[in-house]
Amino acid sequence: MVAVLELIAGSYEQITFGYRVNTEDNEWTAKADFTHHAHTASISAVAASERFVVTGSKDETIQLYDMKKKTEHGALLHHEGSITCLEFYGSSHLLSGGEDGLLCVWSTKKWECMKTIRAHKGHVTSLSVHPSGKLALSVGTDKTLRTWNLINGRSAFIKNIKQNAQIVRWSPDGDRYVVVVNDKIDIYKLETASVTGTVTNPKRISSVKFLNNSVLAVAGDDETVRICDVVKAKLVCEFKAHETRVKAVDSLMVDDYCVLLTASNDGYIKMWKIHLNEELEPPILLGEINTTARLTCLAVWRPSSAQQISEGPSETATSEDLTQELTKKKRVRETMEEVIVEDESKPKKKKKKVGGKNAVKQ
Ligand SMILES: *[C@@H]1O[C@H](CO)[C@@H](O)[C@H](O)[C@H]1NC(C)=O
Ligand SMILES: *[C@@H]1O[C@H](CO)[C@@H](O)[C@H](O)[C@H]1NC(C)=O
Repeated sequence: MVAVLELIAGSYEQITFGYRVNTEDNEWTAKADFTHHAHTASISAVAASERFVVTGSKDETIQLYDMKKKTEHGALLHHEGSITCLEFYGSSHLLSGGEDGLLCVWSTKKWECMKTIRAHKGHVTSLSVHPSGKLALSVGTDKTLRTWNLINGRSAFIKNIKQNAQIVRWSPDGDRYVVVVNDKIDIYKLETASVTGTVTNPKRISSVKFLNNSVLAVAGDDETVRICDVVKAKLVCEFKAHETRVKAVDSLMVDDYCVLLTASNDGYIKMWKIHLNEELEPPILLGEINTTARLTCLAVWRPSSAQQISEGPSETATSEDLTQELTKKKRVRETMEEVIVEDESKPKKKKKKVGGKNAVKQ
């Protein structure tokens, strides 16, 4: 089966690259599809939905790119600090986290900020939405792991993890999650919210990706990518992927195998074929792309069949609509702690103050 696939990479050089991959043969090739230079500082995060690619940067903005129209789609100006993490939930919502400690929930329909959560004292370093869409986890530089009820935007659970974690990820089934602190991966079970195992990587970890519910690809400050079995809590396979440190890993399933994607400081994006069999063997290189940029982050874009269905006019916000929407919307100053419900359709309820500065309920 021929998969329609595009790889999106962000770079230190402020540019986002899009490559269309030809998956017809056993040797995959890629062709530059677009470059997007909308940021004024290095790109720190990228995510893709069926329709949009979003990038976050040290310039404090989130830039939108419409993959269907192949055009810029405006910017989201809400964070006051570097954007550190971006994650879509389906195609309807985007979550963003930043060095301002905020976690924002955006509706992708009109790109409105629906909720602003003051998530961490310090930076938000990573976030992950549960497959049910009801919960999100976040970690930050206040040495906590927090669970958010996305239905009401409230804090559901706080765990003091004694160290600053850099990454948090749910497994695809949502029955466990991993928390990365430097070179260490703590594996948690959802039911008990307790650590069931810890795996130490030889180097500081930069990126992880669940390939299926029990194995996790781990990249770090060296050229080797390792595969961690989170059930057995051990590293089960490793291979040299790049010439220098690997900055990002992603994956997707194609037919009956997994394609692991790696992006490195060496400028390359590589595509690896890996069969998720009982006995895990090192992957086979399918293809590589010399981007000539120092890559920082990576995402896969795939159109869905749903995208081919013509959309109603109410769904298609034009760039002008969005610009209007964004200029109309004022940058909300976060003077209060806790949750601010910012539903523009109900202006009366906006900015509900929950306690003063000393009455922080965390
Ligand atoms: C995930 O992949 C591992 C390693 O290839 C395999 O042993 C395991 O059975 C797979 N798990 C599932 C749930 O498919
Ligand atoms: C990657 O591309 C750049 C620019 O075209 C080139 O200078 C460099 O040699 C290439 N790298 C390799 C390993 O071919």
